[in-house]
Amino acid sequence: MKKIIYLDNGATTIVDEKVITEINKYNSYEYGNASSIHEKGEKARKAVDKAREIIAKSIQADKEEIIFTSGGTESNNLTIKGIAFSNNKGKNIIISKIEHDCILKSCEWLKSQGYNIFYLDVDKEGFVIKEQLKKLINKDTILVSIIHGNNEIGTIQNLEEIYNICKEKKVLFHTDACQSYTKTSLSSIHADLITLNSHKIHGPKGVGALYIKKGIKITPLFHGGGHEFNIRSGTENVSGILGFAKTVELSLKDKDKNIKKMNVLRDYFIDNVLRIKDSILNGPTKNKRLCNNINVSFRYIEGESVVMDLNRKGIYVSTGSACSSHTLDPSHVIIALEKNHERAHGSIRFTISKYTTKDEIDYTLLELKKTVDKLRKLSPLGGN
Ligand SMILES: Cc1ncc(COP(=O)(O)O)c(C=O)c1O
Repeated sequence: MKKIIYLDNGATTIVDEKVITEINKYNSYEYGNASSIHEKGEKARKAVDKAREIIAKSIQADKEEIIFTSGGTESNNLTIKGIAFSNNKGKNIIISKIEHDCILKSCEWLKSQGYNIFYLDVDKEGFVIKEQLKKLINKDTILVSIIHGNNEIGTIQNLEEIYNICKEKKVLFHTDACQSYTKTSLSSIHADLITLNSHKIHGPKGVGALYIKKGIKITPLFHGGGHEFNIRSGTENVSGILGFAKTVELSLKDKDKNIKKMNVLRDYFIDNVLRIKDSILNGPTKNKRLCNNINVSFRYIEGESVVMDLNRKGIYVSTGSACSSHTLDPSHVIIALEKNHERAHGSIRFTISKYTTKDEIDYTLLELKKTVDKLRKLSPLGGN
């Protein structure tokens, strides 16, 4: 049988067995609508409430501050558009140049509605320039949104420092924590709104949450039966929400152990991959980087060719943003670091999980070296 090595956990992850059991229970037996007043509905309502408590506790929030959504994309859209529409103080929003597409494109759309979007630069490791943030915030600024753990290069922003600037200037601060949730310390103390999702942490796809600090007004995107405190109408995805809560419980149980294990494997991977000639690490090192992320550019060759050759060998990795890597556009994140298109086209992201083994890493490094050597021999740009 073909050996399969899955190193694309930043795109999505395998669902844990215990989570599948939980989902099946709620699909097969406890399938009531959480709004129904009969016993089955009551059970579903109680289960959703319990799940809300688990997610809230994980970020030191209150359960009334958690809104379940269909995932990271919806939570980010709800934040950007919902805050813009609920606010008549101003029309300026500040984001970084290395946000996920769903933030970038929500903001692009808002521009067409008369809003002004300001893009923060990042340094060579992907950290936002805080002095620039201070200068950009003015009386028309209604929101600052900066990704916590970057999905491409793994940079972990210092939320406390950024939040303090926003607080001082009395501006709302949102962070997209889809990649960092349960992989770093994350707390509602350092943001007004936080986007979370389930499928990056061994939970089901199509479910996520938005933390909204008490007292913040937000205009809903969906109107209907008034679910989720009138902020997100639509029958609750009970089995998905329960699966999400279960995966959060499991992730938190062994959080420190898993982070430590992934840190060791990540650093081993980085040390060895950089022995390949003309390879460059994108993003920071050690504890400034997500424990599961490695992103490397190989000069003279295209990232897509590397991905396809590794795919043939049963090793699954990604280029660029990977959530949308069907596009051949260079990575906007790597360009923000260096303004170097060759490096942006050649970047490969390897994202490990708590299940990744050292043997898998060794095999990947061996095959990767062969792939890079082979492609460079064929490359018109050279590099042999
Ligand atoms: C940082 C980040 N934000 C948002 C999303 C979108 O989340 P979802 O797939 O749950 O819509 C992703 C993943 O695709 C992501 O990595």
